[in-house]
Amino acid sequence: MKSIAQYAGNLLNHVEALYRPGERELAIELVEALGCAVTDTGFKGDGVDTFLAVHPNPDDRNPNNNVFYISQIRSNQLAVEERLRRLNEEDSEFAALLENYRQEACTKPFGIPHFALRYPSSQDVDDVSKRINASLKHRLKDRLHLRIFRPGDADAAVCSLTQGFLFQDVIVSGSFLMGQLIELQTQS
Ligand SMILES: [Fe+2]
Repeated sequence: MKSIAQYAGNLLNHVEALYRPGERELAIELVEALGCAVTDTGFKGDGVDTFLAVHPNPDDRNPNNNVFYISQIRSNQLAVEERLRRLNEEDSEFAALLENYRQEACTKPFGIPHFALRYPSSQDVDDVSKRINASLKHRLKDRLHLRIFRPGDADAAVCSLTQGFLFQDVIVSGSFLMGQLIELQTQS
């Protein structure tokens, strides 16, 4: 198999994501359950800890391509998240809207922001599901929901694809309150 470094064209090369303070190990556990390998970039920047590189292909740990990074949320965004969390507690209308959004992310995820990982086969997606159910589901409870759409399912969006949608708020490339969908896709 060619390495990603040998690909010369333009490509979507990384996603920048975050974890909450105190959840670095949990974030590693989650991405490893997804079948990814984690390496430490050693780069800290303005963060409190180093950026971790998450490699969807454990056999090609290119630090710059086909990768997403996770690091601890910065204080400015944490303040925004905290303000939103309080709003959610105090404003029942806002809380209902947010709950609607989260429910839709779990049940009809096709128009909800996400990024996607490709797997060689639907068996690989099933293996991810087994690992998540075994190690994380009981601990994260309503912080995590996995739904797999298979070809032929009445509510599947694309008949030729298996699409698992993992909704969770351990690693996000946006707001922790709104959570993050990660699609687990196979094309065979
Ligand atoms: Fe998608």
